[in-house]
Amino acid sequence: MSVSAMAELTVGFVQTGSESGWRTAFTNATKAEAEARGYDFKFADAQGKQENQIKAIRSFIVQGVDGIVLAPLVTTGWDKVLKEADRAGIPVVLVDRGLDSDPSLYVTSVGSDFTMEGAMIGAWMAVETEGTCDIVELQGAVGADAAIKRQAGFANVIENFPGMQIIASQTGSWSSTGGKEVMESFLKSIGGENICAVWAHNDNMAIGAAQAIKEAGLQPSEDILIASVDAITDIFKTMADGETNVTLELSPYQGAAAFDALEAHLAGEDVPKRITVPGGLFYPETAAEEYARRK
Ligand code: AHR
Repeated sequence: MSVSAMAELTVGFVQTGSESGWRTAFTNATKAEAEARGYDFKFADAQGKQENQIKAIRSFIVQGVDGIVLAPLVTTGWDKVLKEADRAGIPVVLVDRGLDSDPSLYVTSVGSDFTMEGAMIGAWMAVETEGTCDIVELQGAVGADAAIKRQAGFANVIENFPGMQIIASQTGSWSSTGGKEVMESFLKSIGGENICAVWAHNDNMAIGAAQAIKEAGLQPSEDILIASVDAITDIFKTMADGETNVTLELSPYQGAAAFDALEAHLAGEDVPKRITVPGGLFYPETAAEEYARRK
């Protein structure tokens, strides 16, 4: 396909919804990238429902788009609709999260290494606490690739430290409200003095947990450590205010890699089945500077 033809590509993007600050940043960055490439870009917000994602994929198939980019809410339940896209000859590129279908049904899966993210936070916590810590975990949404793999990566690391254990774990559904409510229940049932650290699968839940800890009369990041993933702008404000300890960046700029893969596939080029997006750790020492730069 010629470069000029690429600029006229019609691409359907099936997003999970707007469940977190990172998701919104990812949506905005992806829309900007599509506009910069001159795509006829069709956006579907599934509002947190897989059935809406499946409906959107079917609609894009009927519309005859050149390609579909999908951020799958959960890892299961995709075989049927992916086979429909395959039969229609419409390539599907996964972005952000993966899924449990035959890899022949999608071009590639673009995203971060969620397992490594959990492992990196586990390693940070082991060093920070010298291997002794009773941890509460705020999980992402049930069934989401990011939650499943972050939980596994973290657990794989802390099982090497007999003094570290997860004493409570529950989903906060990626939101600050959810993180706050679950943390309030942990503080009530366990007692803040018995909790060493919070492992939150994303920054929004970490921010909610910090609020709950403060309202319980404790100092977040000191009385109870808080670690999370995403590096959204707001976490840098919370960190600069001395309320969380570390965040691991999940790049919102994955659209470019997804679009590159789609264009390469349409041009008949080979595309690797997995394209990993890296992320680094950020600490309070640079939080104020990062917040000023990102807001
Ligand atoms: O799939 C990535 C996760 O989904 C992010 O960490 C979270 O903020 C979003 O809801």
